[in-house]
Amino acid sequence: MSKKIDGALNIDALRIIAKRRLPRFAFDYVDGGSEDEETLRGNRASFERLRFRPRTLVDVSVRDTSTHILGQPAAFPAVVGPTGLNGLQWPDGDMAIARAAATAGLPFAMSTVSMSYIEDLVEATSGRLWLQAYVFREREISDRLIDRAAAAGCEAIIITSDFPTAGKRERDFRSGLLPKQEFPLRTKLNILRHPKWVLTVARNKPRFVNVERELGPGANVNAFVGHGMFDPSLDWDDLARFRERWRGKLLLKGVLRADDAERAVGLGVDGVWLSNHGGRQLDRAISGMEALPEVVAAIGGRTTVIVDGGVRRGSDIAKAVALGAAAVALGRAPVYGLGAGGQAGASRALEILRDEFDRTLALTGCRSVGDLTADLVTGMGGSSPAAST
Ligand SMILES: Cc1cc2nc3c(=O)[nH]c(=O)nc-3n(C[C@H](O)[C@H](O)[C@H](O)COP(=O)(O)O)c2cc1C
Repeated sequence: MSKKIDGALNIDALRIIAKRRLPRFAFDYVDGGSEDEETLRGNRASFERLRFRPRTLVDVSVRDTSTHILGQPAAFPAVVGPTGLNGLQWPDGDMAIARAAATAGLPFAMSTVSMSYIEDLVEATSGRLWLQAYVFREREISDRLIDRAAAAGCEAIIITSDFPTAGKRERDFRSGLLPKQEFPLRTKLNILRHPKWVLTVARNKPRFVNVERELGPGANVNAFVGHGMFDPSLDWDDLARFRERWRGKLLLKGVLRADDAERAVGLGVDGVWLSNHGGRQLDRAISGMEALPEVVAAIGGRTTVIVDGGVRRGSDIAKAVALGAAAVALGRAPVYGLGAGGQAGASRALEILRDEFDRTLALTGCRSVGDLTADLVTGMGGSSPAAST
């Protein structure tokens, strides 16, 4: 591990290293949100306004961060969530991040728009692999991807429901990544100022290999991915159909309301994933953390609840679990690590979060994940548990 990566004290330090290493368009693709980025900031604010009411004089000399997510063991309550275009951060970025997740003992969710084949990821990681499935207008393509995931031995499918159309990500329009990856001179000059990135990442020509394989030879996959391939007519009947087709674990990602969570449970999902897509879709949507108390009150105990958006500290993980989540999902945190230093950087991000989570357990008087209960957390200023407010 390089000294810089090794010495990174927190996720923000990795973010700053990544920002220096990467051309601006590649960094902004990860770092940015939609429109005014209110929801992006709101995700952090949801964690920051919570405070701990720690228990004192508890013997915490022996602690255990491990847990079960979807019935299988995980080293701590986190999943490495799906992020597209990891190949822009580091050559073979999906493989690097998947290996980091497996080494850390966490499940890895690959994106539909990943740049490594499903089959290769399953084989290379020997960790827990989940496939995030966007649903295409051409349903056969989604079906074939899901069948491939089953054949390769993927553990879970995640249907992402918060993408009926793309959020307006203005940083990407400014850089020229959107709408058609036609870079203006300013972006091109900025890319040339990062020769290492050009020689490693750009030379490898990252591609949406999984979608490309399904589209067949000669198809313009970039145009396909860029121009509304995702089906805005996706609805509950589709979820029911996926439930019938896929026998493994099924998660619905993009839920922010108790009534939707109830409906998903009614259709037999194995978990709901509270998310606003990291503030990249509907700006001014509430955060997963804001939705958590109402969803847990409605369906907690009946299904697995995962929450994401803004997790940058191990203490954030403790807050989410205390309020009823089985685990958090990590979006940008490991991707900043990836951009900073490939697999080693992603591993460092996961190591930082595990270490901070373990410290939070000790400092709140908890020996294990099961000790994290709602009375440990309060909204800022008040003394009542956040779960009841
Ligand atoms: C660069 C990037 C790419 C993403 N790509 C996908 C994707 O392909 N599919 C998906 O369901 N979510 C995607 N997301 C959303 C993440 O899975 C997750 O919901 C979100 O990043 C969590 O917020 P955080 O980044 O603040 O941790 C992406 C997020 C980022 C930052």
